[in-house]
Amino acid sequence: MQLAGAALNAGLVESATMRVPRHVAVIMDGNGRWAAQRSLPRVAGHEAGSRAVGEVVHAAIEAGVEFLTLYAFSAENWKRPRAEVDSLMRLLARFLDERTGEILEKNVCLKAIGRVWELPEQPRERLERAIRMSAGNNGLTVILALNYSGRNEITDAVREIARKVRDREMEPEEITPDVIAAHLDTREWPDPDLLIRTSGEMRVSNFLLWQLSYTELYISPKLWPDFTREDFLDALRDYARRERRFGGV
Ligand code: IPE
Ligand code: IPE
Ligand code: MG
Repeated sequence: MQLAGAALNAGLVESATMRVPRHVAVIMDGNGRWAAQRSLPRVAGHEAGSRAVGEVVHAAIEAGVEFLTLYAFSAENWKRPRAEVDSLMRLLARFLDERTGEILEKNVCLKAIGRVWELPEQPRERLERAIRMSAGNNGLTVILALNYSGRNEITDAVREIARKVRDREMEPEEITPDVIAAHLDTREWPDPDLLIRTSGEMRVSNFLLWQLSYTELYISPKLWPDFTREDFLDALRDYARRERRFGGV
């Protein structure tokens, strides 16, 4: 998509023809290291990280991105110490309490992927409420990946397809990549054009395994709490210079 006029007027980018990714996915990593550098408890890093979320959401709106998927809690993150998991869940509930008004005001449509029904009641209820209240919005779609695992997502899709085959609703030969994509949590949205991972780690950590097939990767050395609007726009500028070939020439 071409850059929205508003973003151009705001001086975000250099040219009216800059290619803006429709869908940006972000692995928000480095909260714990940010806290350790300051001799603070890890939870202080997560608190600082939730402020960065707001900044990046605003930058995505300004730039005219349509879909922003944020990896907030992986299915593997339950392995962390109980106190850290509890504080992450409390922070999520608080974030939704504090930000739902702003979500509505900014015309953001909130969605979630992952086994969200397994989340504790407090964050789950607030999440469901924010999703319900913002369902009619047609601005930026923000997709929170919570209790998310790419392998679990594919496993759940395979189970559902297997059930349909068993019940004679579908023949095995009818299973195509499009059919598989239509059974994933992300079925409503296009695949990410750009994946940003902060804190310099060069791995996907079970995020959107199917959907990232041809996504452009951008690794930032910055820790997530230090990641700013300008860093996000730098990633978009970098993306605009990429040549995507999808296996062609
Ligand atoms: C990302 O920061 C936040 C979550 C995974 C919830 P980390 O907590 O992974 O921070 P590091 O990687 O230990 O620095
Ligand atoms: C990935 O970060 C998950 C989230 C950002 C929510 P992790 O910190 O959990 O990933 P690893 O352990 O470094 O692979
Ligand atoms: Mg990490």
